Amino acid sequence: MTIVLIITNNKFNFDSPTFLKFFHFLLTKLKQFMRKKILISLAVILTAGLFIYSCNQSTKTTEISQDSLVKRGEYLVTVMGCNDCHTPKKFGPKGPELDMDKYLSGHPANIPVAKVDTSLMKDWVYFNHLLTVAVGPWGVSFAANLTPDATGIGNWSEAQFKKALKEGKFKGLDNTRPLLPPMPWQNFHNISDADVSAMFAYLQSVKPINNLVPNPIPPDKIPTN
Ligand code: HEC
Repeated sequence: MTIVLIITNNKFNFDSPTFLKFFHFLLTKLKQFMRKKILISLAVILTAGLFIYSCNQSTKTTEISQDSLVKRGEYLVTVMGCNDCHTPKKFGPKGPELDMDKYLSGHPANIPVAKVDTSLMKDWVYFNHLLTVAVGPWGVSFAANLTPDATGIGNWSEAQFKKALKEGKFKGLDNTRPLLPPMPWQNFHNISDADVSAMFAYLQSVKPINNLVPNPIPPDKIPTN
C-alpha cells in the first residue's frame, strides 16, 4: 500500500479538517490492512495445521491397517487349523502340543518316514506321530513349509498363495499337480480376497525356518515292512 502525501504548504496546520480527514483515512486503511494481514495469517496457519494433521492421520491409518491385517491373518490361520498339519507336534501329558520352535514349518526334512503296514490300509488312513505326514490311497504326503523362508513360501507372491489355497495348485502355479490330501483346499474355495491377503501377510511375518519338505511318495512306492 502506498500513500502519497502531498504537502503544499510549509506551515502545515495539524488541526485543520483536511489533516484530520486524512488522518482518519490513514487509520481506516491501516486497520483494513491489519485485518487483512491477520486473516491471511490465520488462513495460512489453519491450512498448514490441517495439512500436517492429515499427513499424520494418513501415516497412522496405514500403520494400523498393516498391523490389523497381520492380526486378522493370525486369527484366521489359528482358527482354520493350519497348525494341525503344518506345525510338528511335541507330546505333553495331554497328548500332542504345537512345537513352537518349528511353527508352521511343515514336516521336518530330517525325520524319515516310518515303514507302513499296508495290510490295514484298506480300512485306515495313517498320520505320523508329528501329524505332518499322512498315508492313504494317494500315497504319502508331507505338510508344506509355510514360513517366509526360501524353502517355504518366502519367494511366493500373494497370487500364488491364493491359487494354492483356493484352487489346490502345487506352488500356486498353473499347470502344476493338484495338492494331495489331507490338505483341505476344497474347504477354502470361498475365502474372500481380504482374508487371503490377511493370511498371507501373517504367514510372511512369522519366523522363517529353513526346512525343505520331501516330495510326496506315490502309492506303489510307499515304504513297507
Ligand atoms: C489336515 C492337514 C492340513 C491342514 C489342516 C492344512 N494343510 Fe496345507 N497342506 C497339507 C499337506 C499334506 C500339504 C502338501 C500337499 C501336497 O504335497 O500335495 C499342504 C500344502 C499346502 C500348501 C501348498 C504348498 C506348496 O508347496 O504348494 C499351502 C499353501 C497350504 N497347505 C496352506 C495351508 C493353510 C494356509 C492352511 C490353513 C488354512 C492349511 N494349509 C491347512 C496339509 C494340511
